Amino acid sequence: MNKTVLITGCSSGFGKLAAKTFSDKGWNVIATMRSPERETELTKLDNVLVTRLDVTDAGSIKQAVDEGLARFGAIDVLVNNAGYGGHALFEQATDEAIRAMYETNVFGVMNVSRAVLPHMRRRQEGCIINVTSMAGMMGLPNSSVYSSTKFAVEGLTEGMAFEYKPLNITVKSVLPGAYPTTRFNANTDDDLNAGDDELSAHAQKLHAHIQGVVKQMAEQGGAVADPQEVADKIYECATSETPVHNPVGSDAEMLAQMKASLPQQAFLDQIAEIALPADMEGISA
Ligand SMILES: NC(=O)c1ccc[n+]([C@@H]2O[C@H](COP(=O)([O-])OP(=O)(O)OC[C@H]3O[C@@H](n4cnc5c(N)ncnc54)[C@H](OP(=O)(O)O)[C@@H]3O)[C@@H](O)[C@H]2O)c1
Repeated sequence: MNKTVLITGCSSGFGKLAAKTFSDKGWNVIATMRSPERETELTKLDNVLVTRLDVTDAGSIKQAVDEGLARFGAIDVLVNNAGYGGHALFEQATDEAIRAMYETNVFGVMNVSRAVLPHMRRRQEGCIINVTSMAGMMGLPNSSVYSSTKFAVEGLTEGMAFEYKPLNITVKSVLPGAYPTTRFNANTDDDLNAGDDELSAHAQKLHAHIQGVVKQMAEQGGAVADPQEVADKIYECATSETPVHNPVGSDAEMLAQMKASLPQQAFLDQIAEIALPADMEGISA
């Protein structure tokens, strides 16, 4: 019998590519999104159920899980992909914006996992893959709040990996580097202008520098990074034995190697040399 995957955030980016990848490989796919009425591509695929799921809305999660189980009978793999980023200094993010990001990036992962786990425990098998970020490996300047959400999910993943291993449920994360998905960073330029002139100028300067570094790192791997790599890594995690944490992309893989080979402060000192403009001081005391 075909296996079934439920993926969140399938309207674009990695989620949509992952839905197509699993479908191509013969899986049943519960492709969830906030506005399924707008979807025109995934709805044409036979073994794909396109349905509404907002990770912040418990009712919509239950409905999508029930609908998926009624159609396909089981959920073998859950991919918690829905999420969003943003570029701003911590002080430029409002309390409301921070809480909203946590509702999606952190509590959303918990909400959907909580809805699927009892089913996986009953079947005594399953796999949960959380899409985090290289920002969950190190605190990225100008993305401190986003980094904190991805660190939270990295911690959740690791703790759950221990908790659920004895129950034959694997829990893993995929940590993408920077990829040119359509909307991931689309609505963030305004945030960089928030606050007083000093704060805004500091944010703009950091942003310009970091964008240059990210581009350079991504290009070191050859052509501009292809988001399909992330969909393929998700599929690999669902179908073979992989580590708990799975960086993907030349930039994320390089960071993971640096982090593994250096003491923590030495790693941060090296990152400061790269991530901060030459006239700004490092972060060592
Ligand atoms: N692109 C990168 O460089 C990058 C790097 C590292 C990690 N990531 C992570 O990868 C994941 C996917 O991002 P992407 O790059 O593919 O960006 P994307 O194209 O913007 O896709 C994000 C998806 O999340 C959905 N979403 C947002 N809030 C939601 C909610 N409350 N409930 C359900 N779905 C929601 C969006 O749906 P709507 O259409 O309804 O808005 C969209 O389908 C995110 O977790 C992101 O943090 C991205």
